[in-house]
Amino acid sequence: MSKPRLDGKVALITGAASGIGEEAVKLFAENGAFVVVADVQDELGHQVVASVGEERACYHRCDVRDEKQVEETVNFTLEKYGKLDVLFSNAGIIGPMTGILELDIEGFDNTMATNVRGVAATIKHAARAMVARKIRGSIICTTSVSASLGGTGPHAYTTSKHALVGLVRTSCSELGAYGIRVNCISPYGVATPLSCRAYKLEPDQVEANSCAMANLKGIVLKARHVAEAALFLASDESVYISGHNLAVDGGFTVVNHAYSAF
Ligand SMILES: NC(=O)c1ccc[n+]([C@@H]2O[C@H](COP(=O)([O-])OP(=O)(O)OC[C@H]3O[C@@H](n4cnc5c(N)ncnc54)[C@H](O)[C@@H]3O)[C@@H](O)[C@H]2O)c1
Repeated sequence: MSKPRLDGKVALITGAASGIGEEAVKLFAENGAFVVVADVQDELGHQVVASVGEERACYHRCDVRDEKQVEETVNFTLEKYGKLDVLFSNAGIIGPMTGILELDIEGFDNTMATNVRGVAATIKHAARAMVARKIRGSIICTTSVSASLGGTGPHAYTTSKHALVGLVRTSCSELGAYGIRVNCISPYGVATPLSCRAYKLEPDQVEANSCAMANLKGIVLKARHVAEAALFLASDESVYISGHNLAVDGGFTVVNHAYSAF
């Protein structure tokens, strides 16, 4: 029998109480990892841990906007499991759904603090832990199709996700010297609490809208599909992949939907 894909690896996942992060916790644990579930939704975080079993995961509150909490969460991971192999820096918010003419500047700052500064803090402290222990780790961030295209999300969100691609590339350039890989995943629309709240729609309506605008037909993108991409980047199957932005978008960002030659 072959070894589980994350056999004995220790993973820290932010935004792990819900949506894509929750699916990643389940998939990573199924594949042999020990997982720290980090989030600000304590009750949901504990439920996620219960769903995979306490021998495989534990919850730690972490607001990624606060660097101290990020550092504490990395230290907690090291104390609990002795090392850190994988960071899935996935926590994110959609932010204010306003146009540029009515831009909510405070909301803009909060989106950047969560989606960019928060991810930078997690990379900083996770990478420090990996470097100090000579661990050839894998760092994965969740960006979005809004990292490559304008008009697919609100302004602060789109700005933050573009910035994340830069953060991934620059971190990749420095951390390669330590054997640490840094990649990101850019999902197309998935029905999660984030997208349902943003568009004030039920999950099936979000999925119907996503499918209607999708390039790849006949399949509904689920959080599980995004988690599968994270599992690949976390595992040794992607051992020479770094600095990559893996689109999980069925070709959405490489096709101009306003024009067809066929
Ligand atoms: N759902 C989509 O369509 C979609 C598409 C592309 C990218 N994404 C990205 O995927 C990631 C996960 O989102 P999701 O769709 O699963 O949404 P979600 O709302 O289900 O999950 C996001 C999680 O992040 C947590 N979080 C928010 N702010 C936080 C903070 N300051 N500190 C710690 N945790 C915090 C939330 O509590 C929540 O559990 C986000 O980065 C999002 O931008 C989502």
